[in-house]
Amino acid sequence: MSLPSTIAIDGPAASGKSTLARRLAERLNYLYFDTGVMYRAVTWLALERQASLEDEALITRFAEETQIDVRPPSKDDGRAYDVLVDGEDVTWAIRSPEVDANVSVVAAYAGVRRALTEQQRRIGLRGRVVMVGRDIGTVVLPEAELKIYLDASVEERARRRYQECVARGDAVTYEEVLQAMKRRDQIDSTRAVAPLRPAEDAVILNSDDLTAEQVIEQVLSYVRNCG
Ligand code: DC
Repeated sequence: MSLPSTIAIDGPAASGKSTLARRLAERLNYLYFDTGVMYRAVTWLALERQASLEDEALITRFAEETQIDVRPPSKDDGRAYDVLVDGEDVTWAIRSPEVDANVSVVAAYAGVRRALTEQQRRIGLRGRVVMVGRDIGTVVLPEAELKIYLDASVEERARRRYQECVARGDAVTYEEVLQAMKRRDQIDSTRAVAPLRPAEDAVILNSDDLTAEQVIEQVLSYVRNCG
């Protein structure tokens, strides 16, 4: 039986994509690559340098010139990988509410997408990869052999994200997380370049009433039936 060598997982924020991809990659012994970290890393850098997020040319230059590395985890603190920006460990810094609130704007810039998509595609074409994002099946790797679009209602996704924030000690309310999630959905799905949408040949799965275990079992059955 031949397994799909490139697996694309797309869908809105907090639909369970990362958990699914991480476990799937472990089971198949594939590389797990979460492309959202690259958009987050550029956003973190812009905030760190106090750059105006409206300065598209400057932010694009950051995306073109910054070395973003994703490496195996160097610490046992719950991380799935290390994210380095020009050598600095920003693994947790890129998950802050401030980055959350601004990343959609950065990810909508055409030049930023061009620079990051190129790097993602190069990694994806090596194969044996589970790649996660918003546009993997439609733009980054349209030739992916298996494409999953993992969806969930905005309320359920906000609930999951809220629980993550509380666990980390962030001072936010559910209502704030819900409103931020709606705002991000709106920007991600209506932007001119590579908007969030399922590829025509994607399998659409809704995780509202499924446990993480059920989602992975379902996807493993697609993997087995794909070749
Ligand atoms: O998956 P995430 O929440 O870490 O993604 C962060 C942001 O980056 C989100 O606003 C969508 C955007 N993104 C994107 O536009 N394309 C991707 N391939 C991955 C993420």
